[in-house]
Amino acid sequence: MRLNSPQINLITRACMKASRSLIRDFGEIENLQVSTKGPGDFVSSADKRTEKILIDELQKAHPDYGILTEETGIINKSNTKNRWIIDPIDGTMNFLNGIPQFAISIAYEENGEIKCGVIFNPIMNEMYCAEKGNGSYLNNSRIRVSNKKNINDALLVTGGPKGASQIKDKIFSEYINVSKNVPNIRKFGSAALDMAYVACGRFDGYWQRELNYWDIAAGIIILKEAGGFVDFFEQDADSPLKKNILATNSNIHEELKELINKKDIE
Ligand code: IPD
Ligand code: CA
Ligand code: CA
Repeated sequence: MRLNSPQINLITRACMKASRSLIRDFGEIENLQVSTKGPGDFVSSADKRTEKILIDELQKAHPDYGILTEETGIINKSNTKNRWIIDPIDGTMNFLNGIPQFAISIAYEENGEIKCGVIFNPIMNEMYCAEKGNGSYLNNSRIRVSNKKNINDALLVTGGPKGASQIKDKIFSEYINVSKNVPNIRKFGSAALDMAYVACGRFDGYWQRELNYWDIAAGIIILKEAGGFVDFFEQDADSPLKKNILATNSNIHEELKELINKKDIE
């Protein structure tokens, strides 16, 4: 890999360390103690263990950096200059069901701008990394988005609605609008990997409402550095960490946006 900022080295080391216990936990899935966090949203002891290892590793190097994580929340709130954004397991439902489609996702921000990110699927041994201005990599190979131009031929991915969503009908009608034009749509259950898969050309586009920033922070830079385009729609100014995302290979972006925004369902 040709990325070597101190932050990316730190994140990849933390990921490798945390993944050792994650792989063990995945092998013993049925013994994991699972507790309910809310409707359709589970959290396992593996989530918390993984997050602790990641935080400990990152804090060893920079005890003063801010951290935003899914499980613990905000650490060192006053540091707005340097911040890690962590989702210890993205794709928890897959993880809990023994499906190897989940990942650790970590991004690093400086003054509110994402500088680098890593998404690591430890079971497939696939590590996606990007640094601002230096491109995106899958393990040691440079990656780029697909070159597909016709949205009718595209393979898209989406997710949601969550069990507790208040806008299920809206999400389903958007899905209907898109699927009338694009026959191939998948739902893979890990927003981070959905973004990474667009970055390496496996998918041509991805959209989803009601995400959290930690689901996609690393994916944003990995996709942009791979030549993709990322857009947010209907941002709620009162909830900056809640995101509705549209992320594509660039070529099909406007067409996908139009399909999502289409008001009438014929
Ligand atoms: C979830 C995954 C899933 C998406 C959900 C997220 P989690 O994250 O990214 O693909 O549809 O909205 O909450 O709970 O597995 O970390
Ligand atoms: Ca997540
Ligand atoms: Ca998670």
